[in-house]
Amino acid sequence: MADVNRGIKERDERIRQLKIEYQKFKERHLKLDMSRGKPGPDQLDLSLGLLDCVNARDGYITQDGADARNYGLIDGISEAKTLFAEILEMDKSQIIVGGNSSLNMMFDFITMAYSHGFSPSEPWSKQGEIKFLCPSPGYDRHFAITEYFGFKLIPVDMTPYGPDMDQVERYVLDPLVKGIWCVPVYSNPEGITYSDDTVRRFASLKTAAPDFVIMWDNAYCLHHLTDNHDKVLNLYKEAAACGNQDRVVTFVSTSKISFPGAGVAAMGASPQVIKEVRRRMSFQTIGYDKINMLRHVRFFRDFNGICEHMKLHAAVLRPKFDVVLSLLEKNLGGKGIASWNNPRGGYFVSVNLLDGCAAKTIKLLKEAGVVMTPAGATYPYGIDPHDRNIRIAPTYPPISDLQMAMELFCICAELVCLESINNIQ
Ligand SMILES: Cc1ncc(COP(=O)(O)O)c(C=O)c1O
Repeated sequence: MADVNRGIKERDERIRQLKIEYQKFKERHLKLDMSRGKPGPDQLDLSLGLLDCVNARDGYITQDGADARNYGLIDGISEAKTLFAEILEMDKSQIIVGGNSSLNMMFDFITMAYSHGFSPSEPWSKQGEIKFLCPSPGYDRHFAITEYFGFKLIPVDMTPYGPDMDQVERYVLDPLVKGIWCVPVYSNPEGITYSDDTVRRFASLKTAAPDFVIMWDNAYCLHHLTDNHDKVLNLYKEAAACGNQDRVVTFVSTSKISFPGAGVAAMGASPQVIKEVRRRMSFQTIGYDKINMLRHVRFFRDFNGICEHMKLHAAVLRPKFDVVLSLLEKNLGGKGIASWNNPRGGYFVSVNLLDGCAAKTIKLLKEAGVVMTPAGATYPYGIDPHDRNIRIAPTYPPISDLQMAMELFCICAELVCLESINNIQ
């Protein structure tokens, strides 16, 4: 029976049972970390071949005729640009290949806009109180970058089709609203892929700020969990057709394709923006790790090689997601206290409990030895106005740990929700 419809006596009895089950878990002294979405060791092993791909036998010379071991090629080696151009569906001349972290490239881009301006505009630091749109639930590290610069973070609701574009279109009438964070494919944490209509509305957005930027983080564009692959419309092409090409900056990396600690990141943007970023980089570095770029190109060969490799990841991840989803369904399904997404890709399952129940659930889990992403983390400033969203990251733990953690999660979630219903009634 749905928990919300039980009588108070029945609910009390269920609470009593749940407390006994919780206590039993506590006595097991678990020590599980489910807090961050990182690949498991079995996934990292899939890319071990990378480590042998650059060697004395095959040499170190890139397509450009450069020695990958030496300085130079500030925006990356040609063959890596070709690979990322295909992933981002942009012209190779519009690609910069960087270090191992796309987040780093995003941070650098915001830094540039803040200190020197972007397009012909004044630096953001001189324009007053800058505001940034944060579709929520979203990625905490995106929000943290713009919080670091002291921008005012404005939450925008997510819909099944992407950010609520009515809200976005209203907010951008303010010239101090300078940009928006987007994860257009298998979004973090809800696994939503933006609809064509959403992308077209982004492309034709009428912004009061001439230096508005869409931070288009395509982190999960290749991270499919099923054979039916989501695909997002090419925002850059759509925006260019509207004359808005300079406001689209796209990012991607191989962090969850090869190694998060030693992958390769890239960005793509209009020729004008790429010129500005290259100029800034010329003060920042003499060049990124070209040996690692070469290693990746030799290991994956081409776009198809990456797609084949992603099937190996999916084979590891699908059973883990299945554990999470089946335990949620078995223990919380039909009770009227929780809803969740059934992602076709990406790295997370996003659960919404009854309002006011997320933080208490996370606390109970912690007290029993299971660390989850903090409640609120998916919202700007770490504050979920409903205190209901919890991000579950199934990828890292082995299946046996995941099973235990999810059993406990469901006990804690139901317990907290039932107590909350009792308190309200
Ligand atoms: C949406 C999104 N973007 C970027 C990153 C980090 O990317 P990178 O390792 O390339 O810095 C993550 C990691 O979880 C992510 O979820």
